Amino acid sequence: MAVARQIVSVVGGDELTSGTPYASVNPARPSHTVADVSLTDAAGFVDACRAASAAQREWARVPAPVRGRVIASIGRLVEANTEALARLVTEEIGKPYAEALGEVREIVDTCDFFLGEGRRLYGQTIPSEMPDKSLFTFRVPVGVAAVVTAGNFPVAVPSWYLVPALLCGNAVVWKPAEYAAASAHALYRLFAAAGLPGGVLNIVFADGEQTYAGLDRALGEGTVQKVGFTGSSAVGRLVGELCGRHLQSPCLELGGKNPMVVLPDADLDLAAEGALFSGFGTAGQRCTSLGTVIVHEEVHDAFLRRFADAVRSAKIGDPNGDVLYGPLLDQRFAERYEEYLGWVRPHHTVLPGPVGRIDGEGLYYHPVIVDGVRPDDRLFLEETFGPIVGVTTFSTLDEAIDLANRPGYGLSSSVYTSDPKAVFRFREGVSAGMVSVNNSTSGAEAHLPFGGNGKSGNGSRQSGMWVLDQFTRWQAMNWDYSGRLQKAQMDVAEIIPDLGFRL
Ligand code: UN1
Repeated sequence: MAVARQIVSVVGGDELTSGTPYASVNPARPSHTVADVSLTDAAGFVDACRAASAAQREWARVPAPVRGRVIASIGRLVEANTEALARLVTEEIGKPYAEALGEVREIVDTCDFFLGEGRRLYGQTIPSEMPDKSLFTFRVPVGVAAVVTAGNFPVAVPSWYLVPALLCGNAVVWKPAEYAAASAHALYRLFAAAGLPGGVLNIVFADGEQTYAGLDRALGEGTVQKVGFTGSSAVGRLVGELCGRHLQSPCLELGGKNPMVVLPDADLDLAAEGALFSGFGTAGQRCTSLGTVIVHEEVHDAFLRRFADAVRSAKIGDPNGDVLYGPLLDQRFAERYEEYLGWVRPHHTVLPGPVGRIDGEGLYYHPVIVDGVRPDDRLFLEETFGPIVGVTTFSTLDEAIDLANRPGYGLSSSVYTSDPKAVFRFREGVSAGMVSVNNSTSGAEAHLPFGGNGKSGNGSRQSGMWVLDQFTRWQAMNWDYSGRLQKAQMDVAEIIPDLGFRL
C-alpha cells in the first residue's frame, strides 16, 4: 500500500512539524489518503508573516531582471515536472488529467509572461512644470503578500499571485486549501528549487478560522501589506472587511453566476458544446463555470434538446480517463452541492436524467440541467459550485442583459450570436469583467486581465500587466537641480494668450 505523503508548513525555510493532523484524500477514492497534513494555528501564520517581512527587503534589492531569471527557472522546473504535478492534481482533487495538464501549462504561461517583466517593470520620466526639475515614477514592491487560495485550481491560480508578487520584489506567505495540500506543497518545492532565498516564499497550512485570526494579527503588526484571496464571496466579504479595518485593499477573486446568452441567430450546436464545457467541465467547479443559460424563446427548445443530448452522452468517472468530469473536489463541496440540489422547485424541469450522487465510493454526481428557472429563484441568483446549470428564456437583448446582470456577480459571461452589433451591445451592458463571444464562460488566458465586479470581487485584476498594480505601488519622485526653491503651482512661467481673439 502506498504511504501517504507527510506535509507540513515551511516558514523561513524551516518545517513546522507540530500541528493538528488533517488528511487530504483522493475524492475518487476517499478511503485513500493522498497526504497527511499538519495544520498550524494563528501563531504559525503570524510567524510566517514575520519571516517573510524579514526576508523581503533583501529580495527587493535583487535586481528585477535577476528576479525574472528566477521566474524563468520556476517555469522550466514546472514544465519539466508537468506530468508528475498534473497526476498529483488529478489524484488529490479529481480534476481530469487532460485539464490538470492544462492547469500546469497555465503556470508555465504565467512564468513566460513575467520572466520578461523583470526587464521592464517600467517607471516613467515626466516633464516638470518648472525648468531644471525632473519627475519620475517608480514601481515599489508592496512588501509581504499573504495569499489564500482555493483548491479547484490548486496550482495555476496560486501561480497568478505568487509569480508576479515575487517578480515585483515581494515576499509571500501562501495559505493553500487544505484539501489540495499535496499539490500546493509540490508547487512550493518547485519554486524553492529555483533558488528563492529562505523566507521569501513561505507555505502555511491552517484552517480558515486560524488563518483569519493570524491574518488579523499580522495586519495589525504591519507584516502584511497585501492580501490576495480566491474563494467564496461570503469569505471574500470577511477578508475585505478585515483588510479595510487595516486600511488595505485586498485582491479578491470570488464566485460567479456566469451567464451565457444565446441569441436566435446563434450556431446552436456550438452554443450547446460551449454550455457543456462551461457548465460541466471541471464538474462545474470553476469560478468561471456557467451558471445560467439565458436563451432566446424562439430557439429555447432547439438549444435545450442539443444541450441535454450533449450532457446525456458525456462521460463522468475516473479522472485519469477520457471523461468530461470526475468527482467533486472534497466532501464539503459534495455536501454543499447537495444543498443546491434542494433548491430545485416544482416549476422547474430537470434534465437529462437522474439527480444526485452516483453509486460508489467516489464523490461523483450526475449532471443536472434545470430548465424554467425564474429570476427570483435561488438557483438563478446564487452561485452553485458543481455540475448544475439553469436555463431561462428572454425575448429582447435588453432583457437578456438585465437577466445576465441580475444576480449581482460579475466575473465571466458569454454571448452566442452572429451579429456584431449584438456582441458590442452585450459587452457594453454586461457587468462581467470578462466577456466571451461564441465561446465558453471559462478558459481565460494567462495574459489577459482576470477578475470580477460586484459579488465576484472588488475590481482587482490578476494576470498580465494589470496584476502589477496589485503587487507594486507607485512612488513619485521629483528632482530639482536648479539650485533654487521653485514652488510648484506658484513659480511657474506663464504664457499669456489672447483669449479674445476671433477669426
Ligand atoms: C477559478 O476557478 O478560480 O478561466 C479560475 C478559467 C481558468 C481559471 C478559473 N483559467 O476557467
